Amino acid sequence: MESFEHNGHASRVVFGAGTLSRLPDEVARIGAARVLLLGGRSERAAGLLGPLAVARFEQVAMHTPVEVTTRALDLVREHDVDCLVSIGGGSSTGLGKALAARTGLPQIAVPTTYAGSEMTPVVGETADGKKTTRSDPALLPRTVVYDVELTLGLPVRLSVTSGLNAMAHAVEALYSPQADPAVDAFAQDALARFARSLPVIVERPDDLDARSDALAGAWLAGICLGTVGMGLHHKLCHVLGGSFGLPHSETHAVVLPHVMAYNAAAAPEAMRRIAAALGATDAPAAVHDLAARLGAPGSLEALGLSAADLPRAAALATAQPYPNPREVTAEGVSSVLQSAWRGERPGASGRRPDITWLTDEVVASFAGAASPRTAQLLSDLVRRLHGFVADNDLTEHEWQAAIDFLTRTGQLCSPTRQEFVLLSDTLGISSAVDLLSNSRSPETTPSAVLGPFYVDGPPSVPAGTDLAEGLPGVPLRADVWIVDLDGQPVPDAVVDVWQSNQDGFYDVQLPDIEGPVLRARLRSDTDGRLWFRSILPSEYPIPDDGPVGQMLRATGRHPYRAPHLHFMISAPGFRRLITQLFVAGGPYLDSDAVFGVKEDLIVEFPAAADGTRTVEFTFRIAPLEDHHD
Ligand code: BEZ
Ligand code: FE
Repeated sequence: MESFEHNGHASRVVFGAGTLSRLPDEVARIGAARVLLLGGRSERAAGLLGPLAVARFEQVAMHTPVEVTTRALDLVREHDVDCLVSIGGGSSTGLGKALAARTGLPQIAVPTTYAGSEMTPVVGETADGKKTTRSDPALLPRTVVYDVELTLGLPVRLSVTSGLNAMAHAVEALYSPQADPAVDAFAQDALARFARSLPVIVERPDDLDARSDALAGAWLAGICLGTVGMGLHHKLCHVLGGSFGLPHSETHAVVLPHVMAYNAAAAPEAMRRIAAALGATDAPAAVHDLAARLGAPGSLEALGLSAADLPRAAALATAQPYPNPREVTAEGVSSVLQSAWRGERPGASGRRPDITWLTDEVVASFAGAASPRTAQLLSDLVRRLHGFVADNDLTEHEWQAAIDFLTRTGQLCSPTRQEFVLLSDTLGISSAVDLLSNSRSPETTPSAVLGPFYVDGPPSVPAGTDLAEGLPGVPLRADVWIVDLDGQPVPDAVVDVWQSNQDGFYDVQLPDIEGPVLRARLRSDTDGRLWFRSILPSEYPIPDDGPVGQMLRATGRHPYRAPHLHFMISAPGFRRLITQLFVAGGPYLDSDAVFGVKEDLIVEFPAAADGTRTVEFTFRIAPLEDHHD
């Protein structure tokens, strides 16, 4: 049973590309007319606001020093300002909040980094070298304008460390004692967005989609930061920044995986969510690897911290208690700091050797590939396989067992048995490839996996033929139309049909059957139509007497496919469609062994007056120029 309190903060959020142009409307919306612009990059905003911008203050500084705030405050008074608009990273937003704390003025924040402070009611100010934080709902910006275009200029290195800083908000939110289902969902989505967008941003800093993904991630992570309390990671970063002068977002990037490794055993559900968001199994190692892959700084040593400072940093971080999933002890924090100082890869054993160099060497070996696509696919495959080995701490015995499994899979393959296809099918890979191709042409009939039982060149038969040739079973009549994307009939389409018998076997599986049965080639007539007779297909187990069957049993899965008819439709000028029709109400529709069932392919097979089951279906096929492969 869950029980929680959720203290959400309400800001108006305007998100998109080019949204800065809406600033004048947003100022008017809060009834203001005399804006003070804060931040070093406020020129365009000043142009957009025209006479609404009565003053600009550009000299923002890190950690919001009060002397800077005082100077800006003079401008507020001098110009009778009624609205603060901050543009930039955490320093600009911080100044806006510091001024709001002193004047009660409404703020509009236009963040250009992923720091997320625009979503929090907290400001940290420094006076005489001492940092104090205050939190007050009145400090929350009234409106936040996220303009993806403004982030295009964020340098790659800062994008990476700022993104990892935002990921730290999401990570610590997931194991915060105040977390709730909304925070969990925001955090997990934020992590997934950064994990997929940051690598793209490193490659192509101008990629608007990736930038949009990251900025939305920053917003979500900012909500987490503003809603629940943070733990050891934020405390350590605060100490390292405040007392040792380490740079803010870089420190977050270095420390995060090490704190995660420390907390992992005490926060298994949070780690599971993080790993899922990153498509990995070991969350701390995955965050470490992501940071390394993005070229983020790797150690506190690299950030200039002296090893001699570690004991004092540990003492400062443990001076006062605060919530954290694992008890914060001096030894514990010391070990976190030491591994972060060395920058080693965190792992379950804590002592796993770093194989990044090895991965990089193998990837570099593909640089000479004649085809860039070959190089890309092999490089990514090797990265993921090395990551798999490392994340799971794979033993030699396990790898040997995997090789043995694949060897047996290959040895079982023959002209009539394709165990590798079966493996791809049962792991959902065939359906994943199929779904990707399919999503490129959503207006056509969905495709479905080919399966191993197609035989090229089935016997051509005229319309109305009984494909069952007298085999026992429930009689079936199928009426099929082939149309193009405009619904116009496609005549002379070649339609191959194949299916199982009433016991769930295909002809090629039955040694006693001579020649092809329950498979045929038909052609559509001038109306795009064809029809045939047969028997109702039944559910059947995929071949499970080999390694794939062993895998299914070892994981408690059944081998059954839901009842279906296979179709392969080819017509000149059209993209070939390979698909299946599933019998509505049939068994295993929800647990098909090869993940092949799609909602749009489940069709009614109603009974006619004489008991014959019938099916009518119109296939929409795409013209060849729609083929993007
Ligand atoms: C089939 O439907 O024929 C099939 C598809 C994938 C694996 C095994 C059988
Ligand atoms: Fe089948």
